[in-house]
Amino acid sequence: MATPVDTAELDSAFYQPADSFFRSHRSVALTYDDVTLATLYSDVLPRETQLDTTLADGLELHIPIVSADMDTVTESRMAIAMALHGGLGLIHYNMTERDQLSEVSRVKNHVHGLIQDPIKVQADQEIGEVLALIEKKKFSFGTFPVVDVENRLLGLLPGHVVKPRYAKRKVSEALTPRNEVRTIHERELGGDAIGRADRFFTENPGIHKLLVVDDQDHLRGLFTMSDIERITQERSAQLKPARDSRFRLVCGAALAAARRPDGSLERERIINHVGALVDRGLDVVAVSTAHGHSKGVGEVVRLLRNSFPHLAIIAGNVTSAAGVDYLADSGANIIKVGQGPGSICTTRIVAGVGIPQFTALYVASRAAQARRVTVLADGGISKSGDIVKALTLAQGVVCGGLFAGCPEAPGQIIEINGKLYKQYRGMGSMAAMKAGSATRYGHSSTDSSRKIAAEGIEALKEASAGLDQVLSQLVGGLQSGLGYLGAQTLPQLREKARFTRITAAGLREAAPHDVIEVKTTTNTSI
Ligand code: XMP
Repeated sequence: MATPVDTAELDSAFYQPADSFFRSHRSVALTYDDVTLATLYSDVLPRETQLDTTLADGLELHIPIVSADMDTVTESRMAIAMALHGGLGLIHYNMTERDQLSEVSRVKNHVHGLIQDPIKVQADQEIGEVLALIEKKKFSFGTFPVVDVENRLLGLLPGHVVKPRYAKRKVSEALTPRNEVRTIHERELGGDAIGRADRFFTENPGIHKLLVVDDQDHLRGLFTMSDIERITQERSAQLKPARDSRFRLVCGAALAAARRPDGSLERERIINHVGALVDRGLDVVAVSTAHGHSKGVGEVVRLLRNSFPHLAIIAGNVTSAAGVDYLADSGANIIKVGQGPGSICTTRIVAGVGIPQFTALYVASRAAQARRVTVLADGGISKSGDIVKALTLAQGVVCGGLFAGCPEAPGQIIEINGKLYKQYRGMGSMAAMKAGSATRYGHSSTDSSRKIAAEGIEALKEASAGLDQVLSQLVGGLQSGLGYLGAQTLPQLREKARFTRITAAGLREAAPHDVIEVKTTTNTSI
């Protein structure tokens, strides 16, 4: 008879939980490709897994993926697409404060149930002025409520009269008068405003706008049928949009901590700008720097925490437990981890500093657990397997390079020898620092032309499929990872993960080998 084997003992001798694995490898710093995850008994199908993550109180995502606050990755178009797929985009700060405010507004006003402050026109304006407003603000709609100076409803200016042919006519001559406009009292909306508006549009064929008023007939909001249809459709979609409590898409923005020539913080300017972002509905502000465990970053985070007690703050980057502690003490809720792993980073080469990302994540995650803050794994993610590994320790990942080739990223497509590319550059590259990001790397924003060492490169990414396809590959891989570990949720992934070290031969074995590849289907080349 065969001798019984203690299978649990055997497995645990080789495949270890994070604490024993990383501690037993403490003399060497590891990154994603140094490690693999062991499979575990599973009764979970990949499609049954849930990828929801909570980054801070009130900041919940349906997929744990954030697009980086880089000027070749995230502006409003990318942030909208990220949030529509359940993730989050961080709008970069290499632009004027005013532009950053309008980028955030675009995301927050994208499609939501009740537009609480709709664009209105006055009765004594000419149609020509309304046309000019549409042109200037690039509005994609042409129907406007008409109100008096006290915001009382006078009627609705329908799109079919907002035409150059009527430019000289007054709005008052062309509007549909108040008594013919369908409205709903705000009290009638109840707890399910979307459901109520949906019913209204079904019961009233041909009406595409529903105005909300109060007792005094002040305009309190507007529903459009197309928004309501999109929202009701998305309730059954697989990837649900990430929304705030008022049903707007979530949006983050990076902060440029403005300083005077003597190095002192421009406190009032920072507070005013972040206050304006918050007024527009910003969900999280990111104090994104190369060295988060520093006096200057602590000062900015403390200023924000004191001025905005309830705002979620991302701060970084750090790679040590003390760094996490310092930023948590300063008031950050979410700590960004990563120094030098990024695909365009040269910090480790230029400064000789930085920690391979998996070990950095382990150390930071243990400090974060103790402080009840969350961790974002920032940089160095080149395939979905890296995301699975990162999420064994972190609550989310930040990606730049993976998204920089998408049409949703800023920048033009460049053709070189028949191939299509998009620009992707480090925020510490000379060109990006000149455009404004020097402060992120500890240089003054006014001395960027002086001789300072760049810590990033300017590069190209092959133009890729749309974000939709890129994310579905990444999310599919992530769900497979959870399935292999028998984890239904991300907290279960963190609890169940078992690690083992691999060698260069193991890494070679993991990739396609000894074949002539005719079609690449791994998501390393989305
Ligand atoms: P990936 O690997 O996703 O990395 O392309 C994106 C992350 O890289 C960081 N970043 C930089 N790091 N020099 C650096 O050392 C740079 O110029 C630079 N620009 C961006 C950043 O954390 C980003 O999210």
